[in-house]
Amino acid sequence: MLANRDLLSITDLEPRELARILETSLQLKDGDQLSVLTGQTLALVFEKPSLRTRVSFNVAAAQLGGHCLYLSPQEVGLGNREPVRDVARSLSRYVDCIAARTFAHSTVTELARWSEVPVINALSEDEHPCQALADLLTIQEKTGRLSGVILAYVGDGNNVARSLCLGAALAGMEFRIASPPGYNLSPTFVQRAREKAREVDSRAILTTTADPVEAVSGADIVYTDVWASMGQENEASTRRKAFGGYQVTMDLLSVASPKALFMHDLPAHRDEEVTDEVIESKQSVVFDQAENRLHVQKALLALMLAKEMKP
Ligand code: CP
Ligand code: NVA
Repeated sequence: MLANRDLLSITDLEPRELARILETSLQLKDGDQLSVLTGQTLALVFEKPSLRTRVSFNVAAAQLGGHCLYLSPQEVGLGNREPVRDVARSLSRYVDCIAARTFAHSTVTELARWSEVPVINALSEDEHPCQALADLLTIQEKTGRLSGVILAYVGDGNNVARSLCLGAALAGMEFRIASPPGYNLSPTFVQRAREKAREVDSRAILTTTADPVEAVSGADIVYTDVWASMGQENEASTRRKAFGGYQVTMDLLSVASPKALFMHDLPAHRDEEVTDEVIESKQSVVFDQAENRLHVQKALLALMLAKEMKP
């Protein structure tokens, strides 16, 4: 089903493929053992720092019987030491899959274009599809459903928000986003999500607003991410001012559904986008999300690389 396919955007998946990944993730989480990666190697080519993505891919490959190689920016110098297409073609002669964390999204698409093995987007400036998969699994586990769930994202219309709005559309969820002017979800992604939602499920609506209370009212999930992403460190103080009214506080969370969950992809900047009280509250499921990175990536690798898995 996913054999020899790339995952650059969450919309590279059809709804039934998304469902299969989530189902396989749960089987693996429940203890099913699969040694389907024996003799296979995953290369992580990262231009940016990482804790969760690096460790979860490493452990995922090891638990499936395979190997993982981490290649730091200093060693590879994607596009600097040599062209991206040469890195892709050389790595393809050694490894069975490449997971890349890049600044420009065009770097990960260029890698995929020239690679002879599947390429997974492990975060680019456009998207973070593996995070969205883990988030959808977490929502499904915690609420027992995806279709019809209302997710309110408060903050920057960044890579995490983009994959999440597309993933929500694929899963039939309602996605609301509240961002300050100038930091909205780009019109291209709003349009892509709405088109996908129309294709998949009429309940999957997307709304944008500048008012966090409007977005969060009655929501099942309240989600936020950092105000300055990796590579935007020099904009941090301007962004802190712009995002001033967009912090997720207990007061804001109180206008959501009484059973609402708080979600964050991590790393979090406490007392910027979220208060310490919210992230440490009973409603917070941030470490379940972090754990689920492992389970969804195991499922993804198994479905992409296993020679004997049925479609
Ligand atoms: N959420 C996430 O991708 O974390 P890392 O940047 O630590 O990999
Ligand atoms: N938006 C954040 C996500 C980190 C996992 C970033 O790109 O830095």
